Amino acid sequence: MKILVVGSGGREHAIIRKLKESPKVDTIYAYPGNGGISADAICVEGGKATDIPGVVAFAKEHQIDRVVVAPDDPLVLGMVDALNEAGIRTFGPKANAAILEGSKVFSKNLMKKYGIPTAAYETFDNPKDAESYIQRQNQYPVVIKADGLALGKGVLIAQNYEDACQALKTIMEDKAFGASGNHVVVEEFLEGVEVSVLAFTDSKTVKPMVSSMDHKRAMDGDQGLNTGGMGTIAPNPHYTQQVAQQCMERIFLPTIAAMEKEGRPFKGCLYFGLMLTKKGPYVIEYNCRFGDPETQVVLPLLETDLEEIFEAIDGQRLDQLEICWKNQAAACVILASGGYPVSYQKGYPIHGLDEKGQLDGACIYHAGTKYADGQYLTNGGRVLGVTTTGDTLPQALQRAYDAVKKIDFTDMHYRKDIGAKAL
Ligand code: AMP
Ligand code: GLY
Repeated sequence: MKILVVGSGGREHAIIRKLKESPKVDTIYAYPGNGGISADAICVEGGKATDIPGVVAFAKEHQIDRVVVAPDDPLVLGMVDALNEAGIRTFGPKANAAILEGSKVFSKNLMKKYGIPTAAYETFDNPKDAESYIQRQNQYPVVIKADGLALGKGVLIAQNYEDACQALKTIMEDKAFGASGNHVVVEEFLEGVEVSVLAFTDSKTVKPMVSSMDHKRAMDGDQGLNTGGMGTIAPNPHYTQQVAQQCMERIFLPTIAAMEKEGRPFKGCLYFGLMLTKKGPYVIEYNCRFGDPETQVVLPLLETDLEEIFEAIDGQRLDQLEICWKNQAAACVILASGGYPVSYQKGYPIHGLDEKGQLDGACIYHAGTKYADGQYLTNGGRVLGVTTTGDTLPQALQRAYDAVKKIDFTDMHYRKDIGAKAL
C-alpha cells in the first residue's frame, strides 16, 4: 500500500514510524513532512497541510491507497470529505464531525444536550453580555475560550473581573485569534488532575488507547506560558480502571452516540481532554485528531498493526478487532527553541544525531527540523521529541533524560520535570 500522511510535526513522525512497522505498507509520503521525517518517508517539499486541492491532486497522481489527515485545520476545513469524494480512502473525521474541535460552542452545547459532564458555561457573541455575566457570577478564576481553532492558545484563565474584561478584549475586539474569537465560551474553572485519552472510533464502537499526561506550560513546575505541549508520559497513573470505566459510561460512549444521533458520525481518532474532579471525570475539550505530543508516547506502546485499525474503522468493524498494548511506560521530552512559544530563532545546527536523525537508546520524533547540507537544523518552536519506553515510568524517564544529554543546539530549552507529578 501507498500511504500519505498530511502534516509536519512530531505527531506525524510518530504515525509514520508506526505505519512503517505494518507489513501492508510499502511506501509512505508526508505532505509536507520535515527534515527528520525525510529519513522515514518521501516528503512533498513545499506542500501545505491545509491545501485541499493540492493533497487531492497529489493522492490521485501517486495512486495513494490511504491519506491520514493528522492536523486539526485540514480536518475542520473538509479535507477528508474532498478525498472521499475523489474516491480516496482516508483516516480522520469529516468536517461535520471535526466540528467537535472546530467549534467550542458546538461541543459545549452538544455536551449540555446529551448530559455529558463538562464545566458549567454560557456562550456569547459580544463582549458586553459576557462581561455582565461574569460580573453577576462573580466567581474566579473564570475560563474564557475563543470558539474556533487557535493553535491551542485560545483559552484564557482570569483571576478577577479586570483580567476577564482584558481577556474578552483580546479575543473578541483585538481578534488575537482571528474569526475564532467571534464567539466565546465563558466557563467554570475546574479543579483536579488532567488526563488525555485518545480513542479510536468508527462511530459505533470506541476503543480508548493508553492514557497519557501532557505538560502544557513552558517552564518547570507548570510555570510560564501555555505551549503546544512540552512533554508527555503514558500511561497516566491517575487514570485507574475505575476512572476508565466511568469515562467509558459517562463520556466516551455518550459522545459517539450523540454525534451519530446528530447525523455527524465520527470516524477517526477522538481525543478527550479530561479533568478528574472530586465529582468525577469532566470533559475539558475534544480534539478531532491525535494529540501532539501525546501520540509520541501512545503509539510506541501499540502492538496492533495501525493500518489494520484504520481498515477496521473504514468498515465499521472496530468491535471485532482486538487492539493490543505493550505493558510498558513511555516518556517524551520536547526539546524546544529558546524563546518558544513567543519568538525564537531558526536554523541552528543540531548536534548529537546520526545521519538518520536518530540516537542510540531513544526514538527521536522530529517536529521543527530541516535537513540541509548533510545536517539537521532547527526549524520551529518545538524541535525534537526524545522518546523512550521502559518497564516502569522511572526507567522510561531516566532513559529519556540520558538521551537528552547527548543532544545540543544553540538556546535549546526543555523541561526537567516531565513525569515528576506522576511518580
Ligand atoms: P483547551 O485548549 O480547552 O485544552 O484548554 C487548555 C488548557 O486550559 C487545558 O489543558 C486546561 O489546563 C486549561 N483549562 C481549560 N478549561 C478549563 C477549565 N474549565 N477549568 C480549568 N482549566 C481549564
Ligand atoms: N497536546 C495537546 C493537543 O494536541 O491538543
